[in-house]
Amino acid sequence: MDLQGKVAAVTGGASGIGLATAKAFIAKGAKVVIADFNEEGGEAAAKELSGSGGEAVFIKVDASQEASVENLVAQTVSRFGRIDIMVNNAGIGALSETHELTDEDYQKVIGVNQDGVFYGIKYAVREMLKSGGGAIVNTSSILGSVGEPQAFAYNASKGAVNLMTKSAALQYGDKNIRVNAVAPGYIETAMVNREALGDEFYNGLVAKHPAGRLGKADEVAHAIVFLCENDFVTGTTIMVDGGYTA
Ligand code: NAI
Repeated sequence: MDLQGKVAAVTGGASGIGLATAKAFIAKGAKVVIADFNEEGGEAAAKELSGSGGEAVFIKVDASQEASVENLVAQTVSRFGRIDIMVNNAGIGALSETHELTDEDYQKVIGVNQDGVFYGIKYAVREMLKSGGGAIVNTSSILGSVGEPQAFAYNASKGAVNLMTKSAALQYGDKNIRVNAVAPGYIETAMVNREALGDEFYNGLVAKHPAGRLGKADEVAHAIVFLCENDFVTGTTIMVDGGYTA
């Protein structure tokens, strides 16, 4: 798929991996909807990207609410006439010992990370079936493949994302709708960095990556762009993890 002129919606587009992906799409000539819960950050991101000569708008969404995701897709189509790319990237975590994990925190993580991907696939596919195809990319994680003691709900949600990706890819493979996922290792973001985590914890994370460092949001965005551009890749999860899961 040539991304020039294509319409892409990115949930969680206001920061981190989502924002880097939105920037990468703009650089390829796509029109971008920054879809996020964070209104201030999303508006600022859309303004910045539009200022750089691209076409970007902000649409508020709560990825964990079906009606909100339905509205996001409807607004995208009403603004740009179509949706060619849906990146279901919004995600949250909740660190807790499993026997102390509250049902509320568990449901919150499942709501955004897992239900959000379901809703994003469901409503994007409805439009893509009408328009003749498209590409969907879901942001999973290394923790969709390997366990982490305090990440019970997160593990569950990202494991589900990997299999939802396969199921939907099989379902729509003959309709020119491809569904893939990207599984980042630890990526330097506002929440994940030496200052926020402290030297000991940060160094421990670095040690788990054979690459000897954490990843960059741009490196994940690069893989997401690849998954959109390559027409023969579907139903797969690409690890962008510096060898963490090798
Ligand atoms: P981030 O916290 O920088 O960005 C997440 C964005 O999602 C924020 O802008 C936030 O406002 C938005 N968001 C949160 N809940 C939302 C909701 N209910 N509806 C709409 N938007 C919502 O985080 P980052 O690191 O960029 O994460 C993006 C994705 O990458 C997530 O799915 C995360 O699980 C995944 N990931 C991140 C890794 C990392 O080390 N940073 C590693 C592996 C996966």
